[in-house]
Amino acid sequence: MKEQIERIRNLALEEISKASGRKELDDARVKYLGKKGELTAVLRGMGALSPEERPVIGSLVNVVKEELETLIEQKEEEYDEQELNRKLKEETIDITLPSTKVKRGSKHPLNRVIEEVEDLFVSMGYDVVTGPELETDEYCFERLNLPKGHPARDMQDSFYITSEYLLRTQTSAVQARTMMANEEKGPIRVICPGKTYRRDDDATHSHQFAQVEGLVIDKNVSLADLKGTLEVFVKKMLGENLELRFRPSYFPFTEPSYEVDVTCFKCGGKGCNLCKQTGWIELLGSGIVHPNVLKMNGYDPEKYSGFAFGTGLDRLAMFKYGITDIRLLYQNDVRFLNQFDRADR
Ligand code: DAH
Repeated sequence: MKEQIERIRNLALEEISKASGRKELDDARVKYLGKKGELTAVLRGMGALSPEERPVIGSLVNVVKEELETLIEQKEEEYDEQELNRKLKEETIDITLPSTKVKRGSKHPLNRVIEEVEDLFVSMGYDVVTGPELETDEYCFERLNLPKGHPARDMQDSFYITSEYLLRTQTSAVQARTMMANEEKGPIRVICPGKTYRRDDDATHSHQFAQVEGLVIDKNVSLADLKGTLEVFVKKMLGENLELRFRPSYFPFTEPSYEVDVTCFKCGGKGCNLCKQTGWIELLGSGIVHPNVLKMNGYDPEKYSGFAFGTGLDRLAMFKYGITDIRLLYQNDVRFLNQFDRADR
């Protein structure tokens, strides 16, 4: 019986060592160690042995079984490793290959200008505040000294939603909101950038556009403060060599009121098609806050004075980047927008 076991052992060892894959290994396992396997058959036949022989043969079978199982395990580990190596090889990435180009978005020219204006005014101690685009007639007009029926309302052709609500035509509405919201009725220094809407549509007017409003209220605020502030604003945004011209004008919310022109940056003031041969370009509206506006929004005009200004950010972006049609700013054409990729200053 010992020889029989020895013979089975040798055959099994050979078969297992030669097995060239998992299938053959499994077959060998079943053949020798399985329920109907050859070694199991030896154990079954032990009934015919003498009681002295039984433990000897039994332990011999067990030693052989263990030996075979260990060898099978080793083989399995070998297969696992081979499999892993094959996978690793297959999945190797060549990091020296050139990469595919990632398409980067670019900041919209209008947002660039808005951020620049915000940074500039924040550096001068202003807060940036916003208000609703769907505005009430009260804040858009009445609290700015533009009662119903005022002829100056005609300058701003409006989108009314109901008789009380409209899409705001000017960020000046946020002036009134800021004054009303200031509970102590103390000093104010804010800019209010945002979208505005009017019924206009041509190369220099869009039904949606962007404005920035400025408002400063304090004791003894004068025209000199307004002029100094606007000079810094315009020169920092468009160029230090430009000159400003304050032209008397009319706005219901300021008295006196000025329109501010700047020397044409295309021709330097000589006259060209951009400035319509005048040498000047109209840039913004401004003035000293009207006492009625102060009063209507809870401020005492005897104690406080202020200045305000407002300008179109689209115009500013157009001048800055030489854009000739305002509608380009709103069409989201990537061929246009891509040109502003890293196009700083
Ligand atoms: N809101 C005016 C407009 O839309 C611009 C403006 C003019 C704003 C004079 C002001 C100002 O604050 O003082 O045309």
